Amino acid sequence: MEAFRRTPLLLSLLLSLLSTATATSFIPNISIYIDCGAKDPITLSKDSPPRIFNVDDSYLQSDKNTLSLSNPNNSSSGSLYSTARVSSSSFTYKFNNMDPNTFNVLRLHFLPFSAPSYELSTAKFSVHALNYILLDNFTVADTASPTIKEFFLWTESSDMEVQFIPQSNSIAFVSAIEAFIAPQEMLNSSNPKPIGDPTLSVDLVKQVLETVYRVNMPGPLITPHNDTLWRTWVTDDPYIYSADGSKKTSVSTSLTYVPSQGSSEEIAPPTVYNTARSMNLSEVQFISNPGFNINITWSFSVDSGYHLIRLHFCDIISETNSLDQGLVFTVYIMNYSALTNNLRISDYTTYSQEPFYIDFIAHVMSAQNITVSISMDRTDSKIRNAFLNGLEIFKVNNLTTKKNHPAVILGATIGGVIVIALILSCIVVVSIKKRHQKRTPDVKETHLLWSPMTRGVNSIDNSSKSGGATTIGASPRVDLGLLISLAQIKMATDNFDEKNQIGVGGFGKVYKGVLSNGVKVAVKRASSRSQQGFPEFQTEIEVLSQIRHRHLVSLIGYCDERSEMILVYEYMEKGPLRNYLYGNESPSLSWKQRLEICIEAAKGLHYLHTGYSQTIIHRDVKSTNILLGEGYSAKVSDFGLSKLGASIGETHVSTAVKGTFGYLDPEYFKTQKLTDKSDVYSFGVTLLEVLCARPVIDQSLAREEINLAEWALMWLSQGQLEKIIDPRLVGEINENSLRKFGEIAEKCLQEYGMDRPAIGDVLWNLEYCLQLQETEVRREPYEDSGTSEAHFPAVPFVRRMPSSVVSHETATSGDSRSDITNSNVFSQLISGEGR
Ligand SMILES: *[C@@H]1O[C@H](CO)[C@@H](O)[C@H](O)[C@H]1NC(C)=O
Ligand SMILES: *[C@@H]1O[C@H](CO)[C@@H](O)[C@H](O)[C@H]1NC(C)=O
Ligand SMILES: *[C@@H]1O[C@H](CO)[C@@H](O)[C@H](O)[C@H]1NC(C)=O
Ligand SMILES: *[C@@H]1O[C@H](CO)[C@@H](O)[C@H](O)[C@H]1NC(C)=O
Ligand SMILES: *[C@@H]1O[C@H](CO)[C@@H](O)[C@H](O)[C@H]1NC(C)=O
Ligand SMILES: *[C@@H]1O[C@H](CO)[C@@H](O)[C@H](O)[C@H]1NC(C)=O
Ligand SMILES: *[C@@H]1O[C@H](CO)[C@@H](O)[C@H](O)[C@H]1NC(C)=O
Ligand SMILES: *[C@@H]1O[C@H](CO)[C@@H](O)[C@H](O)[C@H]1NC(C)=O
Ligand SMILES: *[C@@H]1O[C@H](CO)[C@@H](O)[C@H](O)[C@H]1NC(C)=O
Ligand SMILES: *[C@@H]1O[C@H](CO)[C@@H](O)[C@H](O)[C@H]1NC(C)=O
Ligand SMILES: *[C@@H]1O[C@H](CO)[C@@H](O)[C@H](O)[C@H]1NC(C)=O
Repeated sequence: MEAFRRTPLLLSLLLSLLSTATATSFIPNISIYIDCGAKDPITLSKDSPPRIFNVDDSYLQSDKNTLSLSNPNNSSSGSLYSTARVSSSSFTYKFNNMDPNTFNVLRLHFLPFSAPSYELSTAKFSVHALNYILLDNFTVADTASPTIKEFFLWTESSDMEVQFIPQSNSIAFVSAIEAFIAPQEMLNSSNPKPIGDPTLSVDLVKQVLETVYRVNMPGPLITPHNDTLWRTWVTDDPYIYSADGSKKTSVSTSLTYVPSQGSSEEIAPPTVYNTARSMNLSEVQFISNPGFNINITWSFSVDSGYHLIRLHFCDIISETNSLDQGLVFTVYIMNYSALTNNLRISDYTTYSQEPFYIDFIAHVMSAQNITVSISMDRTDSKIRNAFLNGLEIFKVNNLTTKKNHPAVILGATIGGVIVIALILSCIVVVSIKKRHQKRTPDVKETHLLWSPMTRGVNSIDNSSKSGGATTIGASPRVDLGLLISLAQIKMATDNFDEKNQIGVGGFGKVYKGVLSNGVKVAVKRASSRSQQGFPEFQTEIEVLSQIRHRHLVSLIGYCDERSEMILVYEYMEKGPLRNYLYGNESPSLSWKQRLEICIEAAKGLHYLHTGYSQTIIHRDVKSTNILLGEGYSAKVSDFGLSKLGASIGETHVSTAVKGTFGYLDPEYFKTQKLTDKSDVYSFGVTLLEVLCARPVIDQSLAREEINLAEWALMWLSQGQLEKIIDPRLVGEINENSLRKFGEIAEKCLQEYGMDRPAIGDVLWNLEYCLQLQETEVRREPYEDSGTSEAHFPAVPFVRRMPSSVVSHETATSGDSRSDITNSNVFSQLISGEGR
């Protein structure tokens, strides 16, 4: 079995090496291409890699009543369409060895022709596959060009049967068939956003998706030879309402696909992303009429039912890196604003010209048109434009032949899934262990041949066969697509060489590494005696694989081979913010730099708190979890402790206290009730740390100085915060900026969460603080107080942790041991949790 399966893989890998056209072509490890009715195999040499369509005999279940017909019109001889399999009774193709529990692509080709006594264009028939009805009362009238029907079929078993059923007194025919496993990232991670009805949620798994439109905006036409999955992408001319006010844009520069964010050339090739239709408007139009706006609208006629709408974007419009926020615009689908907010490109991408897509699900009540419009945003965006690169519409079809297939409708929120995942995590541990036992070295070899970002070939296969399959299936958000083999990680880190170690955390050691494709990564390896256990590992994978934002560190992959728990992140060149504050040789940061870092970190947190239907609470905000990259751009890291916030109607989640001492929200500590305001508290402590450049707990100091939050609040209450700021900042900070900053920190540190501002307010105020610093406007000291919220109450003396707990700490200023997550004391705090 293994040998049988490996052969086509190696063959196709060889083919791909020989093909010069596109080196990155998708090579499904299981693929069946047949030229129905043909006497000899046919090679499509223009495909890259070239594909061979075999004769269909060996797949045909009962060939007694079928005919192999040739097109008597020689013009098409030698093509896929010069023959057809025809019958006046049902016939079935059976494909064995398909991958179970995954989406397979099934593509049916039809080109009717006239043969003596058979007129294929009048054939009327149905096609069933597995127990789905793919086509019903189907006729193909177009005799000039082939009709291709494409389906993404959720396949549970390894056998796929495709049945052609003619209507009485008619015939059924087919010209060619393709069946191959869909790239794993294609649909598995789809979490479509509802259009119109916010409760709309369709689990795509166990359904059939029929491709109804696939459009490259504005063009050119992409033929199967040019596409990574042999698809056809048509131009948008037939669908655009009015091309006035729009223009075609294209670039020839290379794009940055980020596989860990779900983008790949298989999702859509560069030819889709390097062209776009955008607004054609001149500055003059805005000068004379600042409110000017238009919609660019496309319209697609569809049947009634559920439809998955996939919009492809790649910002080839903005000047590279010229603007902080990049482009912001509005997307409408069927007259509904498709996203809760506007589409902010920077929320979806990290790099310039990075492709991404967004999925939507819409319920079309009666046969009508799905319209998609893009329009400028004039409030939020610095540049006024809007664009679209590509579009696909799939009809969600769950029509079954037998008894109704139960459509599993889950709350597709990551919330439900994470909660389920956490509950089941113990069971998953067991099943993952089983998986490990079943792995064979052979499969690993083939896995290595794939690029580092490719899919976890082995584990998926085995999990579906092992008894643990259902358990794994219950936790679909553990994205197996991010699996990286231990061998690759060892290679990247020189077998976890000490010289590559860049840190130690509660989780284990962190190494720097370079993957075989040259991408620099940070590798976080759990030590066997790690205090953070498997649930955190899972949470981190689940949360991180769901969210992407330029101010949140992205997860590139993970490895759970043997008893390893390894997380692989994008590498942040300059390391944790704390290293630039105190106790390290690193250069000191200017006040402006520090403010910018705080602003960026607040943006990351803001995204966690509000970017999803459910609030994600970080739970461990601190200066070591804010990482700096090139140019000191900041990203929030370490989601191992993240928790989903309360859902609507509740105000908090109850949970055993976790976090890092000194940053911990006292209200949370007392009540065990976690809210997003707990992060705001920790962020407030971090702000003080940035300002004062000292550890948040420093046992070497006098008693009243030990806790930074307490110490700073005392000085704040006396209006003398400047007395304790980082000496390196003295003379540099504008006094208004400092005062504002103090106010922000103070508000974050309010004893009760409800008195603290939301992180969005904090962000806004920090931006204001930066403005005050930059404009150097002289103001009366209290002139701008309370610009955002009414007034600040007098500083209360917030009750901190009992100092008996504090006094156990051995933290010394500056060294990593002051990170109290690792300390004995902290582990007692959390020991009741049964990690
Ligand atoms: C033969 O093919 C040509 C071009 O494809 C088409 O115009 C013509 O109608 C066909 N003739 C028959 C008999 O199918
Ligand atoms: C079809 O092609 C074959 C060989 O290619 C040729 O012998 C035959 O005459 C052609 N038939 C017609 C109708 O053109
Ligand atoms: C298909 O055609 C048959 C007979 O013409 C009819 O009974 C059946 O309802 C049709 N099905 C659909 C979906 O139109
Ligand atoms: C598609 O490939 C053909 C060669 O097979 C080439 O001539 C054509 O320009 C390509 N089109 C696009 C859009 O890349
Ligand atoms: C863009 O608009 C200008 C005038 O506003 C027009 O001259 C030009 O032809 C338009 N370009 C396209 C591609 O429509
Ligand atoms: C519906 O979409 C089709 C293209 O799919 C278009 O030709 C037609 O004009 C549209 N109809 C309406 C009412 O917008
Ligand atoms: C959207 O609005 C336009 C114009 O207001 C209207 O003609 C069209 O029917 C609407 N479409 C839907 C799907 O409601
Ligand atoms: C664009 O279309 C949306 C949805 O149909 C509509 O609400 C909005 O007013 C339109 N904008 C303009 C400028 O026409
Ligand atoms: C198909 O799915 C829709 C929504 O997901 C559901 O309402 C309907 O009952 C399903 N039908 C069958 C036959 O499963
Ligand atoms: C084929 O590859 C997919 C991932 O692309 C994997 O899930 C599956 O297990 C592989 N099947 C075999 C037989 O190697
Ligand atoms: C895709 O999702 C299904 C069900 O959620 C799961 O069984 C399967 O393992 C997933 N495959 C990958 C590659 O994530």
